[in-house]
Amino acid sequence: MDTKNLEVKYLSEHYSNPEYKTIEGYKKLGGYETLKKSLGLQPQQIIDEVKASGLRGRGGAGFPTGVKWGFLPKNGEPRYLLCNGDEGEPGTFKDRLIFEEAPHQLIEGMIISGFAVGSNKGYIYIRGEYKKPTGVIEKALREAYDAGFLGKNILGSGFNFDLDVYWGAGAYICGEETGMISSLEGEKGQPKLKPPFPAIQGYLKKPTIVNNVETLAAVVNIMRDGASTYKKWGTEKSCGTKLFSLSGNIVKPGNYEVPLAFPLKSLIYDLGGGLKPGRKLKAVIPGGSSAPVLTAEEVERCNLDYECLAGMGSMLGSGAVIVIDDSQCMVDLLGVLTHFYHHESCGQCTPCREGTGWLDKIVHSILNGKGRLQDIELLEKVANNMKGKTICALSDAAALPVLSFVSKFRDEFEFYVREGRSKVRGVAHAQMHH
Ligand SMILES: Cc1cc2nc3c(=O)[nH]c(=O)nc-3n(C[C@H](O)[C@H](O)[C@H](O)COP(=O)(O)O)c2cc1C
Ligand code: SF4
Repeated sequence: MDTKNLEVKYLSEHYSNPEYKTIEGYKKLGGYETLKKSLGLQPQQIIDEVKASGLRGRGGAGFPTGVKWGFLPKNGEPRYLLCNGDEGEPGTFKDRLIFEEAPHQLIEGMIISGFAVGSNKGYIYIRGEYKKPTGVIEKALREAYDAGFLGKNILGSGFNFDLDVYWGAGAYICGEETGMISSLEGEKGQPKLKPPFPAIQGYLKKPTIVNNVETLAAVVNIMRDGASTYKKWGTEKSCGTKLFSLSGNIVKPGNYEVPLAFPLKSLIYDLGGGLKPGRKLKAVIPGGSSAPVLTAEEVERCNLDYECLAGMGSMLGSGAVIVIDDSQCMVDLLGVLTHFYHHESCGQCTPCREGTGWLDKIVHSILNGKGRLQDIELLEKVANNMKGKTICALSDAAALPVLSFVSKFRDEFEFYVREGRSKVRGVAHAQMHH
């Protein structure tokens, strides 16, 4: 099958061109022209255009970007623009691609967005493990300052905008927007209760917009070509294109840009090259590890847009598609997830701190051949008690995969408990790893 025309490289048109990373190369390809054009508009016109484009946040929650910007107070108080580049959701590696291949696209998107929301100061928060991307973005920032695209009176417009990089220290919870704000403030990276939402009271208690890397990069394309071009792709409520990080048991893992509502099956088999010979699809985690797992049968009818996935009881999330073939043991995989969430819980809320620990303990007791049948129900009971009760969504993010794994692959859990070994691998977890 000819797969060339399936991808729509709209955001990522120049990502394989090494020149695009340099300011000269970026400018040659039309870079910073959209900034010039946007500085001639009224900020409200930019907000309206972004609203009209239907762009929704690419960090996970899918909240409409223009609507979020509209929540800022109208008076002239100082306000901040934060770029969320923590990219901690397991399976997600699309923001890294933008940092490394298109640092100026992100910077241009941030200056335009800063102008739109009336901010004079932005920060790019980058995850601690992203040493190389941090170097690339820092170099690009220096180039943008030298060229007069950042700093005082940008291109003679009277608009001032400063941008700094803040390097995180490798905590998943610092990707949650209020955790990130705490971290930037020099505190422990712990989430804060909402409301007040950051748009009203965020960084240093001032109005703050937090947007994902991909969201801010897309602002350049939207302002360059207009909302109507962007809306050509996707559905009425899921507009535009999106980068999907494809990983797991797949022949060609990587980032792929496709229009929203792209069939998941086509991403796996046409773009991703399918599974290894002889392997059968068992399941797919469609939107990062917090998204409930889909069975192979559900994959058949799944389109990658917000509504379709929500309708299937899962979510588009960050666009991290993790493919699971029939060589994988679902109990084993769930053990990886429960360990991760237990490790990453910040510990402020009892249901999350204790719940993630219990989930991990119970799954590992099954994995060690010590599980009881009632443990499967106990997993569901604990997970159900963790939902919708806490300061941030990490608790739900830990509970949802458990509920979906146990309900959709119950036979594997029951077999493990009864036989003391994996239905798929034939041995217990303990025998594999020691
Ligand atoms: C536990 C947790 C981790 C998160 N990690 C990230 C992250 O790494 N990157 C990100 O952009 N958003 C992350 N989010 C979502 C942010 O809180 C926020 O919704 C997002 O940055 C807003 O940007 P957007 O509207 O452009 O998507 C996380 C949320 C939670 C609950
Ligand atoms: S839900 Fe978990 S991670 Fe979020 S604030 Fe509470 S304890 Fe921390």
